Amino acid sequence: MQFSKKDVLDIASLSAEDINMVLDTAVGMKEISERPIKKVPTLRGKTVILFFYEPSTRTRMSFDIAAKRLSADSLSISASTSSLVKGETLIDTAKNLESMHPDVIIIRHSSAGVPRMLARTVRASVINAGDGMHAHPTQALLDMMTVRERKGRLSGLRLAIIGDIAHSRVARSNIVGFTKMGASVVVAAPPTMIPLGIDALGAEVTHDIGEAVAGADVIMMLRIQKERLRSFLYPSDREYARFYGLNIKRLEKATKDVLIMHPGPMNRGVEISPEVADGPFSIILDQVTNGVAVRMALLYLVAGGQRHADSD
Ligand code: CP
Repeated sequence: MQFSKKDVLDIASLSAEDINMVLDTAVGMKEISERPIKKVPTLRGKTVILFFYEPSTRTRMSFDIAAKRLSADSLSISASTSSLVKGETLIDTAKNLESMHPDVIIIRHSSAGVPRMLARTVRASVINAGDGMHAHPTQALLDMMTVRERKGRLSGLRLAIIGDIAHSRVARSNIVGFTKMGASVVVAAPPTMIPLGIDALGAEVTHDIGEAVAGADVIMMLRIQKERLRSFLYPSDREYARFYGLNIKRLEKATKDVLIMHPGPMNRGVEISPEVADGPFSIILDQVTNGVAVRMALLYLVAGGQRHADSD
């Protein structure tokens, strides 16, 4: 079997077989990052452009590290340092980038659908690093890798996603991904943070955090996205923490080998207490480590693997 996708735009367009191929490839890539010399020549001569219109620490750095560990040339542009500030359109910018013959363009944008539009415009492979409230496929893939690594499987597990579901591309991608791999997903949040139609993606909905925590194998906490939230939907950090924050007391209801996840950035003391974030059940930094491995795997599969060799 080979990876047949030119682009990675969302989890919905990946089959369970595609997801397993990415996760299996990432396991091999992780070993490279554990060597004293963390570099292989696999993508030598390939060019990877990181195009981030929104802030990022984890996704941007891990794609950059992933490209460098595979010997690709990576370069980074942001909206504020590009000619977009002079009025150039995104499509014109994309056509100009395309003229420099990159092999992969990684894009994060505040508007849903921009990576798909870019993928239709350029010959290079496009990887979505997060678009609006739509999708964050590489985050879901690294989350699935991290859970599979710890639990040995995804099928049959129960994942609780708790927090600002309405504004979360991470929640949407993980609901689609985990259910596709045979897990069940429950989302918990105040009614104002549950979007209409989320159950159509395959998630159960509750407004009771205790109900979501009880019986969950994995708990994924989400940040309140204040930059996308209107103030009348969110009274205060203190009130939110009281009713929806994950603390040691609430964790008493969880299974004894529960895993605690967070995609970052965290608001300590709001959605998650420091004792839980840094505690024995937390795999939050494992997620970051696996982010490099998953992004190495994706770069390899779209730019250096069998698909590319066949099209040469
Ligand atoms: N999880 C995530 O996307 O983090 P960044 O915004 O720092 O990339």
